[in-house]
Amino acid sequence: MFGNVFSHLGPRILVLFSLFSGVLGDCGPPPVLKNARPFDPIKSTYKPHESVVYTCLPDYREDHTKPYMTVCSPDKGWKPLEEFCERGCEGPYATRFSIVEEFLPFYPVGTVVHHVCHRSAEHIPGHPKRPPITCLSDYTWSPVPVFCKGKSCGDPGRPENGDRIILTDFLLKAEVNFTCNKGYQLIGSPTSQCLSRSRSNNTVVWKPNPPICFRPTCPPPSDIRNGAYTGGKNGTFPLNSNVTYICDLGFSLSGDNLLHCITEDNKTGIWRGSVPECKGDCPNPVLPPHSSLRTGEVLLDTSPTGTVLRLQCIAGHEIITGTIPRMTCLDTNKWSELPTLCQGKRCPIPHIENGQIVSSDDLRLGEEITLGCQYGFRIIGGATRQCVLKSGRVDWNRELPVCERIPCARPPIIANGRYDPSPSDTYDAGWTVIYRCDADYSLIGNSTITCTVAENGVDGKWNLPSPECKNVKCRRPIIPNGKVASVFQATYTYQNKLLIECDPGYTFVESSLIECDADSQWKPSGPWCDKIPTTSKSPTPAVTPTPPISLTPGIVTPKEDGTEETAVPPTTTQATPKDEPGSVSRIGIAIGAVLAVIVLAALIIVAVKWFLRQGKTNIPSASTDNYRVVSEKDMALEEKEKEKV
Ligand SMILES: *[C@@H]1O[C@H](CO)[C@@H](O)[C@H](O)[C@H]1NC(C)=O
Ligand SMILES: *[C@@H]1O[C@H](CO)[C@@H](O)[C@H](O)[C@H]1NC(C)=O
Ligand SMILES: *[C@@H]1O[C@H](CO)[C@@H](O)[C@H](O)[C@H]1NC(C)=O
Ligand SMILES: *[C@@H]1O[C@H](CO)[C@@H](O)[C@H](O)[C@H]1NC(C)=O
Ligand SMILES: *[C@@H]1O[C@H](CO)[C@@H](O)[C@H](O)[C@H]1NC(C)=O
Ligand SMILES: *[C@@H]1O[C@H](CO)[C@@H](O)[C@H](O)[C@H]1NC(C)=O
Repeated sequence: MFGNVFSHLGPRILVLFSLFSGVLGDCGPPPVLKNARPFDPIKSTYKPHESVVYTCLPDYREDHTKPYMTVCSPDKGWKPLEEFCERGCEGPYATRFSIVEEFLPFYPVGTVVHHVCHRSAEHIPGHPKRPPITCLSDYTWSPVPVFCKGKSCGDPGRPENGDRIILTDFLLKAEVNFTCNKGYQLIGSPTSQCLSRSRSNNTVVWKPNPPICFRPTCPPPSDIRNGAYTGGKNGTFPLNSNVTYICDLGFSLSGDNLLHCITEDNKTGIWRGSVPECKGDCPNPVLPPHSSLRTGEVLLDTSPTGTVLRLQCIAGHEIITGTIPRMTCLDTNKWSELPTLCQGKRCPIPHIENGQIVSSDDLRLGEEITLGCQYGFRIIGGATRQCVLKSGRVDWNRELPVCERIPCARPPIIANGRYDPSPSDTYDAGWTVIYRCDADYSLIGNSTITCTVAENGVDGKWNLPSPECKNVKCRRPIIPNGKVASVFQATYTYQNKLLIECDPGYTFVESSLIECDADSQWKPSGPWCDKIPTTSKSPTPAVTPTPPISLTPGIVTPKEDGTEETAVPPTTTQATPKDEPGSVSRIGIAIGAVLAVIVLAALIIVAVKWFLRQGKTNIPSASTDNYRVVSEKDMALEEKEKEKV
């Protein structure tokens, strides 16, 4: 009650103080009232314009129409103050559902006021609408009857994850408290009251709105490579929940595996703890071929990501240019690719005299080479060598082979001849030996033999049999049904050739040319001329039946190989009928003589030509015996022979 009064007076005191503080003369003690007393303790003196506020004595009520204070006036002293407190009732109070209809400045005993329903309450039928209350003689009000019922706000309901505490009911002015489940934060007011919606709207609502129970959640935690987290509830991560990270097989966790959801502002969740990493473990590596760990490197069963192994090549091997002798454990759980790191070292290039490498790869450790010799040489010591490791260094498994000249046996010594160079001890492949015959001996075969390599590639062999030196003498042949057409010669030796002629009506069995053979016989052997078959209609009869003086007489022309060919002039196919021998033979002899002269002249020309060519080429003497220059003497002899026939 006092507080109420004080709150009424406070502002006024302040105003007075500020207006009149400390100006003129003092006042004595304030006036004394019967039903009131100064609010503050009484002082002996008061400054001018200082005021004194009075308050009613107990059971006395203030008449709000009268002044309740006095002021010290500098010239007149205290301003007079009349009694303002009388006995009476307090101001009547409203109930929960009703209010006092009229307000008076003072309620003396016997005063009657009325209650009416609160604007958000409803009148209960059968009760007075304006029940009066009276200020009784004991200065209290008569009781207020129940005649109204407040409107209902209805059940505000339980907040999700929380509860409500019903204190009375849900009617006007009712209060409801709210709580949240453990771990949830109440957002809003923990208590609500059922009140009028607004000044102008009498419907009732819970004010303020019931709160919500909120639990901050954390955002989904970060995903990590090669691992995952477990935890959370149905994809949400409420406050105080944990997630645990687990790495995939072969990966190990680096850091703490747990995150804890906390909040710092009761609104948002944050993760406490740092997201770990899953680092790959590499299994025990298979080292690339021909490599080993560098000294000092230790290999564990598994190596964590980033581990670097330094390698080196094993003995006899060297690093392949451009490769890095290092393996790194990648976060793919695998070692970095190292296809081939080391290769065998090269053996020294083998140098052998008169020989070379026939087949090889790279001369590296483990490889095999084949060596070979030049023509005329044979390999001694085996052709293949392997590049091997010998006390830590690469070298050929055996001494290199050597190439040795392939020898031929000494060429045979032949009767009536000799060879150049004269017999010595060594005849190596590629060398030639030239045989010559003694005088009057003809060389049968090839004068030059060469030392060659036999089919087996190892032995030497003469390419041809040694020639023979023979005393070859062919007698001048007697040709039945024919005659020798060549010039006469006293002796015929090896490879001398004679041109023969068959008599009319006869023709050559094989050839018009015969040759003195090594067995001192003419080849081919006779008979040389044979009778022409009568029915023969040979278009080119070999016989020359005493042709008339011809512009193209038969010419013997030497050929490249030294043989002769007789060019036979074409004749009529009709064989000449046999005339009387007397007249015909005479003409024939004449023609024959002329022919002979022409043939001889041709032979001379041929011989001279041939002789000239002989001079240019150096042919061993043995082959020059084929022909002899026909001398004039020989020509004469030939003439005589013809006369005789
Ligand atoms: C209801 O809430 C009010 C205000 O928070 C509090 O003073 C009162 O004690 C509460 N009552 C109950 C029964 O919890
Ligand atoms: C009071 O407010 C409520 C909700 O806004 C509304 O439905 C109702 O019509 C209002 N009543 C009056 C009398 O204005
Ligand atoms: C999980 O969430 C789905 C939809 O996100 C929902 O249908 C399901 O009922 C929830 N389960 C639980 C146990 O909360
Ligand atoms: C979460 O982890 C903390 C330790 O960080 C522990 O005290 C707490 O009980 C855990 N909570 C759950 C729900 O497992
Ligand atoms: C969060 O809520 C708790 C209890 O519910 C309280 O003690 C704390 O002061 C609140 N913190 C903030 C920042 O609101
Ligand atoms: C002798 O032999 C050599 C080589 O074998 C050959 O070239 C030459 O023609 C031969 N000479 C004769 C006359 O056969």
